[in-house]
Amino acid sequence: MNKKFYLTTPIYYVNDIPHLGSAYTTIAADVLARYHRLKRRKVFFLVGTDEHGGKIEEAAERIGQTPQQLCNANTEIFKKTWHSLNISYDNFIRTTDPKHKEVVKKVLQILWEKGLIYEGIYEGFYCLACEQYKTKGELINSKCPQHQKKPILLKEKSYFFKLSQFKDKLKRIIATDQLEIKPVERKNEVLKILEQGLQDISISRQKVKWGIPLPFDQRFTTYVWLDAFFNYLTGLGWQGDFKELPEFWPADLHLMAKDILRVHTTIWPALLLALDIPLPKKIFAHGFITLNNQKMSKTVGNVIYPEEMIEKFGVDASRYLIMSIAPFGQDGNVSWQELTEKYNADLANGLGNLVARVLAMVEKRKVEKGESKVKIKDQKIVQYPLPVTGYKNRYEKALKNLQLYETLKIIWQFISYLDKYIEQEKPWILVKERKFDKLEKVLYTLIQSLKEIIFLIQPFMPETAEKIRRGVRGEAERREILFPKVVKLP
Ligand code: MSP
Repeated sequence: MNKKFYLTTPIYYVNDIPHLGSAYTTIAADVLARYHRLKRRKVFFLVGTDEHGGKIEEAAERIGQTPQQLCNANTEIFKKTWHSLNISYDNFIRTTDPKHKEVVKKVLQILWEKGLIYEGIYEGFYCLACEQYKTKGELINSKCPQHQKKPILLKEKSYFFKLSQFKDKLKRIIATDQLEIKPVERKNEVLKILEQGLQDISISRQKVKWGIPLPFDQRFTTYVWLDAFFNYLTGLGWQGDFKELPEFWPADLHLMAKDILRVHTTIWPALLLALDIPLPKKIFAHGFITLNNQKMSKTVGNVIYPEEMIEKFGVDASRYLIMSIAPFGQDGNVSWQELTEKYNADLANGLGNLVARVLAMVEKRKVEKGESKVKIKDQKIVQYPLPVTGYKNRYEKALKNLQLYETLKIIWQFISYLDKYIEQEKPWILVKERKFDKLEKVLYTLIQSLKEIIFLIQPFMPETAEKIRRGVRGEAERREILFPKVVKLP
């Protein structure tokens, strides 16, 4: 039986269409999904959209649409972007899916019956212009960033989930890696938060109509987080049967940015503990992508959209450039200039040039010798002189530890090793001097190395891997330029 691997990204707020920062998680997840499939694991890769809440209600009203219409339109944008980035997801879950809503209601009812939800008073900052509560983090200089107005402190009746009572259990589970949090600095941060104690959380809003009504008090709807988390189960087709959890549950990996790690390592596992559902195995939080050193965000207006990058560099190159922004887990900055320089250096001159050179030499040899294949007369004399296994082991280890940036570095070290090998063996001189035996060995080595590269880059650049494969097999009609040089900045 193949081992299974269940991997998720966060479900994105449907009113913020995807930019490079938000696409970062999805591309990383896609790389991992493709890698595990190559390893013959049974993979389920879930993505989706988080569609409820006051912001959608308000945004829809502004443009004269119903919230559902806005959600439908924006979901299509997400799907289109993921398709254009070649994201191989297995399911796209929407929180407005009636089946998802039914499960959330069922879960709420159970928590209510178990006495884990109680009625209380919610106090928070409320922006009159937005007609919305704002968290402290959303305020800039104590003002609502949209309206530049100070919110008022408002109190309303609300329902609360008894999160505080799970503190000790969570601490134990996280400290012992029963729920693994990576990178380890993040695990320590979470443990520190737990040390300080947890407060019960408000799970309902009275004013927000666009949400799932509480089954035990229809005047209220659930607040975003309780609804959103259950996508990880409903996205697998779960309909709320506690005796039969989905085949792929528990998740092997929840991938996300660091801003939503805290809720994923407190509220989410506490809800699962409350319902006697096994916990996810691992949560990895990566850093933020900044543009010109400012957090990429639509409100600030400093965004790069994936489509813009694809137009300039192509799909695979964009995937490569995005994953090589920074060590996975740390923050990383981008600028068009750096992206363009990296594209030219690593792809046009690096990988693209290597492939073009090797295939050109194979062709030249064909013409000179009148044979179609690189044949080795005596297999015994072929010593594979490249430390491929060394690279491969390091590659596997890096991917296992989710070090995606390091994984790319390892592949590119191999590429520059091959460049040096070509310079050292000078096959063009071997052709000129008609030293065909030696030439065979060198070209064989290079072809074998390209085959390794095809395997190594496949999760990151699936289409490029396929193009190189066709080139190596001699199937391509004419040699393709994999990465044309880019000169102009946008
Ligand atoms: N809807 C919630 C998630 C619910 S999951 C049960 C949410 N959505 S989000 O659209 O705001 O964010 C989705 C993911 O994109 C988050 O992990 C978020 O941190 C990430 N990113 C959004 N902008 C980002 C950058 N500039 N850089 C890196 N990732 C960032 O939170």
